[in-house]
Amino acid sequence: MDPYILKKDFPILDDKTLIYLDTAASSLKPKQVINKLEEYYEKYSTNVHRGVYNLSYVATEMYEQSRRKACEFINADFDEIVFTRGASSALNIVASSYGLNNLTSDDEIIVSELEHHSQVLPWQNVSNITKAKLVYVPLNKEGRITIENFKKVLNNKTKVVALNYVSNVMGYVTPIKEIIKLSHNVGAIVCVDAAQAAPHKKIDVKDIDCDFLAFSGHKMLGPTGIGVLFGKKELLKEMPPIEFGGDMNDNVNLYDATWKDSPYKFEAGTPPIAGAIGLGAAMDYINDIGIENIAIHEKKLKDYTVSKLLEIEDVVIYNKDAETGIISFNINSVHPHDAVTFFDGDNICMRAGHHCAQLIIKWLKVVATLRVSFYLYNTIEDCDRFIESVKNARDFFKSAGF
Ligand code: ALA
Repeated sequence: MDPYILKKDFPILDDKTLIYLDTAASSLKPKQVINKLEEYYEKYSTNVHRGVYNLSYVATEMYEQSRRKACEFINADFDEIVFTRGASSALNIVASSYGLNNLTSDDEIIVSELEHHSQVLPWQNVSNITKAKLVYVPLNKEGRITIENFKKVLNNKTKVVALNYVSNVMGYVTPIKEIIKLSHNVGAIVCVDAAQAAPHKKIDVKDIDCDFLAFSGHKMLGPTGIGVLFGKKELLKEMPPIEFGGDMNDNVNLYDATWKDSPYKFEAGTPPIAGAIGLGAAMDYINDIGIENIAIHEKKLKDYTVSKLLEIEDVVIYNKDAETGIISFNINSVHPHDAVTFFDGDNICMRAGHHCAQLIIKWLKVVATLRVSFYLYNTIEDCDRFIESVKNARDFFKSAGF
């Protein structure tokens, strides 16, 4: 893959001075996705599953075609893919539907300090309501979830394991397949937050054998407001809906009603139709390049940048051995928000803060970190300009007495 050619697909990058290093927060969108959204709004912007006329059939077919693309993308079956507003909403469905209805005070839920708030907070809520105990996997000294430490907290009381596939702050890949195998051995189900994995890594839900898995469209070239919940069909079948409204019902009586089968019972109201169709185009785009090629490219950029950052005095990197394209770091004595504002002056976009994952920031014993996250449209030239900006920021704040 040639990032210089791919860059031309992204209208925002017509500004040649712009360096976008915040894909972990949200990716840029290629014209192929933007055009697909335009096609929906211009040619068949009708509702799905309801209209008995041709335009609505077209919209329905396009919406369901995207579901089939999502199936192929992660090797799931058709009735195992629920379209949601995003990964957060998908994880909330699992916690509120499965968690609240299956857990008691005798049970334990395993999470980690490496989780995004979207994974830890829904399970905190389940724990508060059901009194199931929330148990944290101790992280190793690098901040990783290891099998050795996972075994220390797994036991016969464990009913749910809720972990990330790739950390949005540290970029570490969790040994999820082995964790799932161990969890199943004690009868626990595993809910995987794959928001940072799906854009960068081949996912095969049958191979890893997860029970639930969630990701968002907007981090993988797709529109905002669309996400995917994968759930094993036998689990989704038993789970009650948590939102009620149009199209999720079967027969409605005065005092009771029945629900459609999964996935539709979890898609109340008009779904994110344009979002799903746009996500389908994003998946096509990624498939055309090959997700493995994207991963190799990002890792190359990350390794190069880490090697250059390590040469700069006052730079502290928290995850230099990460397997993916994320770098979390700080410049000694410079607040990350000051640094990121300086980078913005050089037209470099990146995130500073707790990255919606305060627990790992507290674990690192810092107030915040700077985070670089690469994607297919980044180049070595971007890395060089970024490194130059880091040196200039360090010199600027040092000379100002920081
Ligand atoms: N979860 C997003 C991030 O990591 C917003 O920045």
